[in-house]
Amino acid sequence: DTLKQIVSSGNQTITGGINGNFWGPTLIFNKGETVHLNVLNKLNDSTTIHWHGMHLPAVMDGGPHQVIPPGTLWQPFWKVTNNAATYWYHPHLHEMTEEHITKGIGGLIIVRDDIESALALPRTYGIDDIPLVLTDRDFNSSNQFETVPYGDSMIVNGTLRPQCTVPAQVVRFRILDAAIERSYNIGFSDNRTFYVITSDGGLLNAPVPVTRYLLHVGERIEILVDCSGKSGTSVDLKAYNSSISNFVAGGENFPNGPFANALGKKDFTMLHINIGAQTSSPIISIPSTLTQNTLIEQSTATVTRKLTISDSTGVTKPQILGPNAFILNHRLFNINYNDYQVPVNSTEIWEITSSSVFGHPFHIHDVEFNIISVNGAPPEAAQAGWKDVVFIPGKSGGPGPGGANTVVKFIAKFDDYADSLHPFMFHCHIALHEDEGMMGQFVVTGKST
Ligand code: C2O
Ligand code: CU
Ligand code: CU
Repeated sequence: DTLKQIVSSGNQTITGGINGNFWGPTLIFNKGETVHLNVLNKLNDSTTIHWHGMHLPAVMDGGPHQVIPPGTLWQPFWKVTNNAATYWYHPHLHEMTEEHITKGIGGLIIVRDDIESALALPRTYGIDDIPLVLTDRDFNSSNQFETVPYGDSMIVNGTLRPQCTVPAQVVRFRILDAAIERSYNIGFSDNRTFYVITSDGGLLNAPVPVTRYLLHVGERIEILVDCSGKSGTSVDLKAYNSSISNFVAGGENFPNGPFANALGKKDFTMLHINIGAQTSSPIISIPSTLTQNTLIEQSTATVTRKLTISDSTGVTKPQILGPNAFILNHRLFNINYNDYQVPVNSTEIWEITSSSVFGHPFHIHDVEFNIISVNGAPPEAAQAGWKDVVFIPGKSGGPGPGGANTVVKFIAKFDDYADSLHPFMFHCHIALHEDEGMMGQFVVTGKST
């Protein structure tokens, strides 16, 4: 554990971090290189470190099976095959993920590749290419973190009420929703258009202009914001959460109880941005195209897996589950049970049917996928690329019986790394739900290439 003066007066907060006292270094990987990581656990607890979004052997994945006991060193390595985009790493010990993420353990990963490097995009880290790790925390009266799903205070890059200065040109923000539960409906205080250039796992074909983007836990977007000619002005990056549904995390307005919080169903400032001087070789235009994604053909799928999301009525394990816990495939997570055996190099459609009234950000390890449809409709343009989290909206019609279940389909190819002993996870990325058992696992079988 470490200490950090997060609240401006009074006690320091007991935190966790990686090579520091909250969060960790941004790892920059080049596609094609082999990376070696030394992960020394200096906590008093066991933990794990998962490389969210990376395609790698299951034993290197850092899920609940790759436990790092206190005082020990874990040395995963793999060849980076992911596309240029923003990924992240975080703890993943079963039933402890919420607590370890709350401490502040985690970090960003930036992958670079030849396609992205050839584009005229801002990429000077911290100058015109700025990471924004969004989360929120609840502090007790002695400034310590409470392990709760929703905080009362917005935190960006480990800082309360943050501000930054950006140059008067096109600026890139790499935004991660690293909250325990909350989604952020991102926009700017002057309602300007910004341009989404990546989904979780790679560039989009072309920048997608938007004024709002609803980002869910675990998801990343990179955006371009044109600040040309605006030197001396300022603008706020905000969460417009008053307008999101009651059944999207952060859109509820609980007056009291464990989910009550100061930010629920409110609009609030996340980052105050001052626009300063232009740099010497600025990017001054938004590119018209980025890449040409070849999405996976549905005809190549050999199986459609049918998954379900439901509430836990009838499932007994009261010591973990609250009355409103959610489950996948009608069962709680069991670390010794594999839901699926996926043949290596096969292509599969996963079809998730949810009878939950609440929305859940569904994440799968090992692969990046293409969304096929959400309730029959194709994905919006900013999600029509590579993804590793897909938001499963709540069923229509609100609470109680009636209404139609939600159906979301995606397609993925499970290349490389067959290993019948070490499973990969799939789960809701709301850490509370995941810890309560909203998780399953699969093994990739066959002969690895
Ligand atoms: Cu970001 Cu299974 O995790
Ligand atoms: Cu992951
Ligand atoms: Cu969930």
